[in-house]
Amino acid sequence: MIKKSLITLSLITGCFFAPIKNATAQTTSDSKMNAKVDEILAEMTIEEKIGQLNLLNPGGGVATGAVVSDNVQQKIKDGEVGGLFGVAGPDKIRIAQDYAVNDTRLGIPLLIGSDVIHGYKTTFPIPLGTSASWDLEMIKKTAQIAAQEATADGINWNFSPMVDIARDPRWGRIAEGAGEDPYLGSQIAKAMVEGYQGDDLTKENTMIATVKHFALYGASEAGRDYNTTDMSRVKMFNEYLPPYKAAIDAGAASVMSSFNDVDGVPATGNKWLLTDLLRDRWGFDGFVTSDYTSLNEMIAHGMGDLQDVSALALKAGLDMDMVGEGFLKTLKKSLDEGKVTEEEITTAARRILEAKYKLGLFEDPYKYLDENRPEKDILSEESRAFSRKVAAHSFVLLKKDARVLPLQKNAKIALVGPLANNKNNMLGTWAPTGDPQLSIPVLEGIKNVAPKAKISYAQGANITDDKQFAENINVFGPRAEISETSPEKMLEEALKVAKKSDVIVAVVGEASEMSGEAASRTNLLIPESQKKMIRELAKLGKPMALVLMSGRPLNISEESELNVDILQVWHPGVEAGNAIADVIFGDYNPSGKITASWPRNVGQVPVYYSMKRTGRPGEAEGFEKFKSEFLDVDNSPLYPFGYGLSYTDFEYSDIKASSEDLTMDGTITLSATITNTGEHDGEEVVQLYIHDKVRSITPPMKQLIGFEKMMLKKGESKTVTFEVSADDLKFYNSSLEHVAEAGEFEFFIAGSSDNEFKNTFTLKE
Ligand code: BGC
Repeated sequence: MIKKSLITLSLITGCFFAPIKNATAQTTSDSKMNAKVDEILAEMTIEEKIGQLNLLNPGGGVATGAVVSDNVQQKIKDGEVGGLFGVAGPDKIRIAQDYAVNDTRLGIPLLIGSDVIHGYKTTFPIPLGTSASWDLEMIKKTAQIAAQEATADGINWNFSPMVDIARDPRWGRIAEGAGEDPYLGSQIAKAMVEGYQGDDLTKENTMIATVKHFALYGASEAGRDYNTTDMSRVKMFNEYLPPYKAAIDAGAASVMSSFNDVDGVPATGNKWLLTDLLRDRWGFDGFVTSDYTSLNEMIAHGMGDLQDVSALALKAGLDMDMVGEGFLKTLKKSLDEGKVTEEEITTAARRILEAKYKLGLFEDPYKYLDENRPEKDILSEESRAFSRKVAAHSFVLLKKDARVLPLQKNAKIALVGPLANNKNNMLGTWAPTGDPQLSIPVLEGIKNVAPKAKISYAQGANITDDKQFAENINVFGPRAEISETSPEKMLEEALKVAKKSDVIVAVVGEASEMSGEAASRTNLLIPESQKKMIRELAKLGKPMALVLMSGRPLNISEESELNVDILQVWHPGVEAGNAIADVIFGDYNPSGKITASWPRNVGQVPVYYSMKRTGRPGEAEGFEKFKSEFLDVDNSPLYPFGYGLSYTDFEYSDIKASSEDLTMDGTITLSATITNTGEHDGEEVVQLYIHDKVRSITPPMKQLIGFEKMMLKKGESKTVTFEVSADDLKFYNSSLEHVAEAGEFEFFIAGSSDNEFKNTFTLKE
């Protein structure tokens, strides 16, 4: 059967210089908002305006810095607070909102923020995992469910999506984003904003999305968190900025500035970034918050004292100060001394009031505080079932040559490994609103899905034997506990259960807090305690599958040499064990594709598919002197971007263009036939890559410009077509103009970035 599917590329075609909105787009609701906000501003004292710029965290939740706000109650009553975060539940938030509404002179309600990064109580896989599904509708729905649940608990402003491009797996926060590619990252950014905000922010189940961390946070040097970033404008515009812009074009109503500096000025006080680029060129009309105390941290960056950095940030375009209270403590003084203007303060206050208006808080400050909603809207059976589905779709089959998976449901299985019967690590990093105790461990999931399987379980190893390392990752509670049983004894138990079983499933990898914020690693190996167990089990020569959990690409060069199957499952969320069982027993055939390349070793980092060729390309295997290569390892990653296997096999053929030429105002159709040649039905993520052979700035070797996920039954063929126009071939030239240049383009359509170009077309003047 030949089924034709058509997708039209909607690349990030908007020019970085053209404001998105024009004057005629002003709607009646805009003018109503302006009238309301003008009316309030006219009543406000300068202190009340400054109060709106202050965002506090009363504590009790996760504090990601050294400071937690004090005396919050009194500050709200004194009109010194514009918003809170780190509080949840209609009852608690009602108390805070009451102070704001009833005890302040003007009764302005509070914004209530939260970090809902991958689900609220229904935790989904970590974002890096979800991105591996390449399923935009599914990703959007995760954001909708997150909004449904968070708003039921009183939240109206979310600190997500994180859209930072990350090409350095040493950086722990790679877990929170969509990986290395600007095109895929942009599509996902858009889907998430649409999911959180819906088409109407006044609805009670939508919330403001925050694009973070603006900008370039993922490029911190050496992957060390909060570290300096420095890059050319051309690289920024082509490779790092597109996802932020895509989120803003999708209507994100707020932006969070990042901790790092950009061109030598911390993002939080960077006028080029927060005003020239964000507002003047991109037309952003929402509000900008700092990150957690990132305003005060400009003191440590070397930008002056609290008064200096607060004035700098306000003038740069920052509207809200998270936890730092620099605005609160110094702006009045700066105004009196002529260091800032009243207009600058009013502009920032206006933006905060506009956000409150957009949410409908002036009409009803209590609209998110319906006590009946949490019970009804949070952690429903449907949402949990959906989380299970998303998790299964996020898993990536990295290796299948041992052909151990899928398992028979009546198999005699040795289930081993420190993550095999564990709840504390299933949710993954940055899941402060989730409850690890509600998560399904792998052992339980297997029993649910395959009640007839004969399972013997042994922990086999600690996550790590290193006490100091364990302590460093246990800051939010026990994630890597060191057992009282000796490592030798644990290994002995694992070998014992393995010997009496037909197949070994080892669930290994990183604890959840080995990735995430302030969780950078210089060593990307599975911890040695577990590597040792894997080696010893492999020596038994029994069929063996590794179920690998991590928040980042790891260096698994050693394990990839073993005769085992490897299924990468990230940190899968609240339904972890059920989803893993669905996939290892073949109820769902894995279809995920990695969105950040996996290095052969840490010395290769950064390694990403869209690297430039250099003048001395070193693309072949093996070493050649005077080429851009390493003496000891090939340039290619162990597993490239876009890679992921299936229990079935797919073959690509007939990769062609509808014509040899494309005109500047025309379109061309690029197509391929995909056939499921294996023994299972399965889904495939079909990817389109181009290479601009000659252009005015050096091109990347490959560039993703389209993809489509499709289901193919066993034996089925489908033709996929991509309609491409000159817009899809655009890049930022050295004058930062968004242009497509005439010339020849190579392309291929495949199931991974690691493929040869198959055909060409020419873009004509
Ligand atoms: C993180 C942000 C987060 C904020 C508030 C910071 O440390 O960088 O991503 O939104 O804390 O919790």
